[in-house]
Parts: sequence; C-alpha cells; structure tokens
Amino acid sequence: MKLWKTPLTSQLSETVMAIIVVVLLVTTKGVKSRKAREDLDYFEYCAMSCRAHSASLAEFGGVGDGSTSNTKAFQAAINHLSQYQSDGGAQLFVPPGKWLTGSFNLTSHFTLYLHKDAVLLASQEESEWPVIKPLPSYGRGRDTEGGRFISLIFGTNLTDVVITGDNGTIDGQGELWWQKFKKGELKYTRPYLIEIMYSENIQISNLTLINSPSWNVHPVYSSNVLVQGITILAPVTSPNTDGINPDSCTNTKIEDCYIVSGDDCIAVKSGWDQYGIAFGMPTKQLVIRRLTCISPFSAVIALGSEMSGGIQDVRAETFWPLIQNQELGSKLLWEEEAL
Ligand SMILES: *[C@@H]1O[C@H](CO)[C@@H](O)[C@H](O)[C@H]1NC(C)=O
Ligand SMILES: *[C@@H]1O[C@H](CO)[C@@H](O)[C@H](O)[C@H]1NC(C)=O
Ligand SMILES: *[C@@H]1O[C@H](CO)[C@@H](O)[C@H](O)[C@H]1NC(C)=O
Ligand SMILES: *[C@@H]1O[C@H](CO)[C@@H](O)[C@H](O)[C@H]1NC(C)=O
Repeated sequence: MKLWKTPLTSQLSETVMAIIVVVLLVTTKGVKSRKAREDLDYFEYCAMSCRAHSASLAEFGGVGDGSTSNTKAFQAAINHLSQYQSDGGAQLFVPPGKWLTGSFNLTSHFTLYLHKDAVLLASQEESEWPVIKPLPSYGRGRDTEGGRFISLIFGTNLTDVVITGDNGTIDGQGELWWQKFKKGELKYTRPYLIEIMYSENIQISNLTLINSPSWNVHPVYSSNVLVQGITILAPVTSPNTDGINPDSCTNTKIEDCYIVSGDDCIAVKSGWDQYGIAFGMPTKQLVIRRLTCISPFSAVIALGSEMSGGIQDVRAETFWPLIQNQELGSKLLWEEEAL
C-alpha cells in the first residue's frame, strides 16, 4: 500500500520489480533456505475437532438478528472458554445468522469457527472499537497521528489460535469508514478485520472477508502463521483495503487465497522509517502459493512500503491468474460507478 498517489504506470513497474525481486530470491538462495522451506512444510496446526471443550455464541446471549450488538456475548464466551487453555483448549461456534459486533479479543488454544451461513457484521459505532497505541515499529497510526481503532478480531501474546469456518463471512461494513477517511473525519487510524500480534501458531482459513474498513488480515510480530482458503472482496476503489499483510513475521504461509480489493493483494511489511529500523524485526520465510489476485491499481505482491525492518526469503510460486491491467481496472471502476 502506498501513502502517496503514484501514476498507474509507475505502480505497475513497482509490481514488476516486486515480482523480479521474488524471482531473484527464489533463484539465488541456496541450501539454507531449502531447509527453511522444509520447516515450513512441517508445522502442524490444530484441526477443527481438536479442542476438548466447545460452546456456541447463542449460549452467551448472542442474538443473530443483524441489529443486536454481540460484542459482550463474544467477550463473555471467550473469557469463559479461556479457562480451558491448559485443559485441551476450546472452540467457539458461531451459528447461522447475522451477528453484529464490535471488536473482541481472542485467547490461546482457541478456535473461532463460523458456520457457512454465519456472518459477522462489524459495528459502525466508533464506541464499539477501543483505541489502542500505535504499533512500536510504526510510531504512529497510518491514517492519523496517535492511536488506532483496535481490529475487529484481535489477539496479542497468544499461542495456538485458529480462526476458521466452512466459508462463513466477516463483513467489515467498511463504506462508512471509507467515507469518513476520505473526508478526513477520523481521529484515529481505521481498524482491520483480523490482527494478531506477538503470537505463534496461528491459522486463519476457509472464510470470506468482505468490505474491510482498511487492511483485512494483519499478522504482526508473530511466527508460524498459516493463511489458507481465504476469499477477500472489496470494491477496487475502496481505500487501503489490502488483502493480507504479514508484518515483521517469521514463517508465514499464504495458500489458496482469492483476493479482489482496493489495494495490494499481499503487502509484505516490517515497520515504518526510524521506528521500523529501531524495532529491527524483518519479515522472513514467507511462502505464497496459488494466489488469485485482481488488483487493477496496486500490486499483486508488494514488498513494502513500510519495510524498514527488512524482508528476507520470500517465495511466491504457482500463481493462478495474476490479473492486473488498466483495461480491467477501468471496467471494474466503471461497474462500481454504475452501481
Ligand atoms: C483487548 O486487548 C486490548 C489490547 O491488549 C485492550 O486494550 C482491550 O481493552 C481488550 N479488550 C477487552 C474487551 O478486554
Ligand atoms: C506481549 O509480548 C511483548 C513482546 O514479548 C511484550 O513486550 C508485551 O509486554 C507483552 N504484552 C502482554 C500484554 O503480555
Ligand atoms: C466462499 O464464498 C465466496 C463468496 O461467496 C465464494 O466466492 C467462494 O467461491 C467460496 N469458496 C468456497 C471454497 O466455497
Ligand atoms: C478448508 O476447507 C477444505 C474444503 O472444505 C478442507 O478440505 C480443508 O481441510 C479446510 N482447511 C482448513 C485449514 O480448515
């Protein structure tokens, strides 16, 4: 994602550069990185049925009518289930329905499972989104100086977390945020849909994410992260709706994802200017496979911007259609404007 506007042609050449860099990395790395690759293939994740305890959101007063706030129900359910962290872990099931909610925090040894007809609807009330400090490797929020709205699904200092479903949906209802952002009405940086910080063994799979207020999936300062089978959709004109942004992460695998959004499909990051340099945490050992991307105005895979902590060992293989051209961009733009 860019903090400034560049002409389409230079954005395109930036993408070409990014792809060339990736190819170079693939071809010039030797034995050492083949080892890293093996490690990547070996880490195992908790399957859906692996938790000893489970509960449904409905048991905690959740109402899936699309208008009742479920923020308290989510937090009550997860607080309750967190007692099983060292007793086989727990799964929270979200049944069919439209579950309006503000932000909630995850716990360790935990699975959030969305039924295929479950939709999490992100609240548009700013009061439902606590404000947290800027990331230390950025020193400020990206949209504004100072704080940032916490992400819809947030976790920090966790281990063994699965966010999954049978292709259930997380709807960021981003339109209002995009308008406020464009008019300069926001006091804080917009929220993301999923942010996991300082964590390990994270799996985000088999979900559809639509209309995020800003970035969609943001693992940061984390390791052993698998993002698999995710569909990400947002208008190609929506501001900064990047797909997946691994940021100062080690050992990340992104597979079988389909992304159409208003910014880079994947943007590899590691902090901003002096803050990123001082924090000094690169993104390394990143594998991207079978990505389908439509990103008419931005990159398929961008290395940066905001990569001041460095980027090492990125492999991108077996692309399915890489669609990024001006003609298609104009067509999508025209269709969106006609709506
Ligand atoms: C979620 O975690 C953040 C950061 O640790 C914290 O500021 C916030 O208050 C937590 N939210 C709840 C509901 O506990
Ligand atoms: C989370 O981990 C980071 C890095 O180890 C540490 O600085 C921070 O204090 C931890 N936060 C909490 C809430 O434990
Ligand atoms: C998941 O849902 C999205 C949106 O409806 C759809 O485009 C995609 O094909 C579905 N994926 C799978 C694996 O069924
Ligand atoms: C995602 O769904 C596919 C098809 O239903 C299934 O084979 C796969 O195990 C699921 N992946 C994860 C990581 O849950």
